[in-house]
Amino acid sequence: MSISRPIRKVVFPAAGLGTRILPATAVLPKELLPIVDKPIIQYGVEEAVASGLSQIVLVNSPGKRILEDHFGPHAALDALLARRGKSALLGGLRELTAGIELSTAFQDEPLGLGHAVLVSRGRVGDEPFAVVLSDDVIDADPPALAQMLAVFARVDGPVLLVERVPREAVGRYGVIAGDALGDGVHSVIDLVEKPAPEDAPSDLAIIGRYLLTPDIYPALAQTARGLGGEIQLTDGLRRLLAQRPIFAVELDGVRHDAGNKPGYLRAILHFAGKHPELRRELPGPTGGVVPEAR
Ligand code: G1P
Repeated sequence: MSISRPIRKVVFPAAGLGTRILPATAVLPKELLPIVDKPIIQYGVEEAVASGLSQIVLVNSPGKRILEDHFGPHAALDALLARRGKSALLGGLRELTAGIELSTAFQDEPLGLGHAVLVSRGRVGDEPFAVVLSDDVIDADPPALAQMLAVFARVDGPVLLVERVPREAVGRYGVIAGDALGDGVHSVIDLVEKPAPEDAPSDLAIIGRYLLTPDIYPALAQTARGLGGEIQLTDGLRRLLAQRPIFAVELDGVRHDAGNKPGYLRAILHFAGKHPELRRELPGPTGGVVPEAR
């Protein structure tokens, strides 16, 4: 049984440069690129809210205030749409915006995911919290964060979301070694950031969702720059693992990495395939959702 306090806050690191989808991201933050009719980050915020987490901490770079603008208020647009009887066009954005509490922490330099989490410390304080990497777009029922929260309530420690990936793809992820505890839950024994396939401890990749305890902050503060000269969250977790147990749970759902071109295309096809107006526009007998190459 967990003795942790309940999780209320979700950190969204969003200060990255989006280099894998240039030139689209030269001006527009990658988090605002649309998947069908909603920007990437909105899927993550909706997942958080659907999982009962409504305090959003955006880790942003000073030049990307447009990201906060998306979450409103949109008084002039609201009023115009209301006058025309077209409020439904906002597709739930107004309700979403009204239901969240948004705060921002700034990451002035792109020093890595671990550093992005570290700068959220002042906003999060001394309580457990979630981290969502919004370019991992997940379609799951119950939502991915809710699946993790159910595990967090049973164990005493951080919970990472993992998925089995092809061996040749492990180098794109943090990879865990774990002891299977049943029901897709693993006790983490080790974790390594972006290993070569021959060095990977398993095929269980961390996929952009973390439930963390506040002791990650001092661990990250002591973590030296690692791969790419950046402070890696995986390295901070590895340091924390020396002090406390850490757990991982396998996702029951579908995930697309919308932070690169093929994954972004697959995410669009996936959600278009579920969209009542668009699915018949797609190729293939069922309005073909293109499966990820395995
Ligand atoms: C980051 C993390 C990595 C994790 C991945 C999930 O890498 O560093 O451990 O597996 O997100 O998407 P990035 O995709 O930012 O290179």
